[in-house]
Amino acid sequence: MSRSRGGGQRTILISSPKGGSGKSVLARHLLVSAAQAGLQSIGLDFDRQQTLTKWSMRRAQTRDAFPDFADVPVAPVVLQDWRASLRQANGYDLAVLDTPPSVEDHLPAIDGLARAANLVLVPAVCTQDDVEAVGPWIRSLTDKGFRAVVVLNRANRRTSSFARMRGTLIKAGPVCPTEIPQLEDIHVPAVKGLTLLDYSKSRGIAPFEEIWAFVRREIEL
Ligand SMILES: Nc1ncnc2c1ncn2[C@@H]1O[C@H](COP(=O)(O)OP(=O)(O)OP(=O)(O)O)[C@@H](O)[C@H]1O
Ligand SMILES: [Mg+2]
Repeated sequence: MSRSRGGGQRTILISSPKGGSGKSVLARHLLVSAAQAGLQSIGLDFDRQQTLTKWSMRRAQTRDAFPDFADVPVAPVVLQDWRASLRQANGYDLAVLDTPPSVEDHLPAIDGLARAANLVLVPAVCTQDDVEAVGPWIRSLTDKGFRAVVVLNRANRRTSSFARMRGTLIKAGPVCPTEIPQLEDIHVPAVKGLTLLDYSKSRGIAPFEEIWAFVRREIEL
């Protein structure tokens, strides 16, 4: 049953010029949040590595034994064929689009997906390398009129570099008020196609709950 506030399907594009910044981790936590909220949601995996697709196949296997875990379908799709790929999300309340890192090689497709999306999320690890790449990227997205927000990842608030990186990105574009901390055990549930959110007592779920609440408000879902 859908609990959308109306206004049709919503689409979130997750895109970053940097590899390993947390795009797929963010995608699967948003998809699980949406499913747990009773929304019909689908992941579209535009990355040829198919990280999100493989995760969802492991999840399907886990659900064979433990069907209480929310169903999260993911379709592997092709970036060159982005327009047709989007149609796979027809009928769903929410589509979360996971993409490969090399945005420079796929600019027309990423632009097309950003135009189709209600929100672009740009995960950024709190390092100089990520910030140098993500600053211009978030600026170019907002200059083109897209609603885009940076989500800081692997953050450690106690370090001075965190505050510096955050400050640099805030000058470049909107930044989500909640960051994802460095979580040593984030990959553990992924082995079974799960996320931290699938265990209500997990340490580390609060940031993902906050980011989901923020995103939901942003896209009026
Ligand atoms: N907050 C975090 N704490 C600890 N490890 C993390 C965190 N976020 C991501 N990782 C780890 O970093 C690696 C990269 O994450 P992820 O696959 O989500 O990045 P990505 O942006 O999708 O990468 P790619 O560009 O290759 O698609 C994974 O091994 C993941 O478990
Ligand atoms: Mg990925």
